[in-house]
Amino acid sequence: MSAQTRIGLDIGYSSTKAVVLNQGENPARLISLGHIASPQPGIMSESELDLQAVAGAIKNLIEEINPPVKDTVIALPEQKIFTRVVYDLPFLTDEELGQAIRYAAEEFVPMPIAEVNLYYQVIFRSPKKEANSRTVVFVIAAPKALIDKYLKIAQMADLKVVAIETEMIAAARALVSFSVYSPTTLLIQMGATNTDYAIVSDGLILLTRSIATGGGALTRAIAQSFSFEMSQAEEYKKVYGLLEDQLEGKLFKTLKPIIDVIANEAKRVILAHETQNRQRVVKRVVLTGGSAHLPGLVSYFTNFLGLEVQEADPWAAINMDPAMKSKLSGEAAFYSIAVGLALKPD
Ligand SMILES: Nc1ncnc2c1ncn2[C@@H]1O[C@H](COP(=O)(O)OP(=O)(O)OP(=O)(O)O)[C@@H](O)[C@H]1O
Ligand SMILES: [Mg+2]
Repeated sequence: MSAQTRIGLDIGYSSTKAVVLNQGENPARLISLGHIASPQPGIMSESELDLQAVAGAIKNLIEEINPPVKDTVIALPEQKIFTRVVYDLPFLTDEELGQAIRYAAEEFVPMPIAEVNLYYQVIFRSPKKEANSRTVVFVIAAPKALIDKYLKIAQMADLKVVAIETEMIAAARALVSFSVYSPTTLLIQMGATNTDYAIVSDGLILLTRSIATGGGALTRAIAQSFSFEMSQAEEYKKVYGLLEDQLEGKLFKTLKPIIDVIANEAKRVILAHETQNRQRVVKRVVLTGGSAHLPGLVSYFTNFLGLEVQEADPWAAINMDPAMKSKLSGEAAFYSIAVGLALKPD
């Protein structure tokens, strides 16, 4: 069993989630899961002491969920990496492609290429060299220092990292079925500090974006306008959220400007994608991350975007005890990245 069991570890600013799946079974089976509050400033810090504190929390979490393996897949945060779909390449051999990707990366990576690791995923490749042959690739540039930092934390927590990927690739694996029948989807991942967007079509990511507005901004706005402690503001947010008919609409009015920043960016992402890909119109929006469960969010986004919007359920295709499934239903979307990581094939 152990050979196909993986820990998916999602190290977030506000909390760290771990999901252990046996992917050798079909469907994959849940072995255990859990989360722990991240010490502050945590993963944002570069100091050795702060990173040790993050590793300590992860160690406690792992002890608690007691996985049968140490093999772990971790994710790099979307806002710290650079991605781009490169469309305008001709037919290229593998060797030429590597070279072309380096050139392309120089245009969108705002740091020396020597300081990043480049990865790519072929989206389309003409089978042979002809006048109109082309190659389309999704390029990911990850700063080497960032990778080192995450590897170091995992090592301090006594875990064996078997793979690293990006948060949105992991979330897409857990949430969007990779079939030509599945509609082009906009994934919106709302965490504590950031909101990330990805357009997913035929199982491939075609565009990603990240903005520095997330659930933390909502809590701060409530604390400020009602003179609440952060913990009380957090409670109000989770109970009343964007429900306009609660508290005389006061909470709604406080949160709306921030939610509109997030929703307007979603519109821009859809427009940017559809300008480039007229035949892959976005048909569906999936909300994920801890903030996806904000009361009223799904209906607000449905009206704002005029599209079908749903809250993510990464557990839909995972085998588990039904009692566990109902227990998880309120916080399902919170684990999307960790589930996707634990599902990563070798
Ligand atoms: N039921 C809920 N309603 C609204 N917001 C919620 C709810 N549950 C959790 N949140 C919010 O979700 C956020 C945490 O989400 P998540 O765990 O995805 O973030 P993170 O991974 O720690 O942060 P980041 O990805 O930005 O580093 C917090 O802002 C929290 O207030
Ligand atoms: Mg997160």
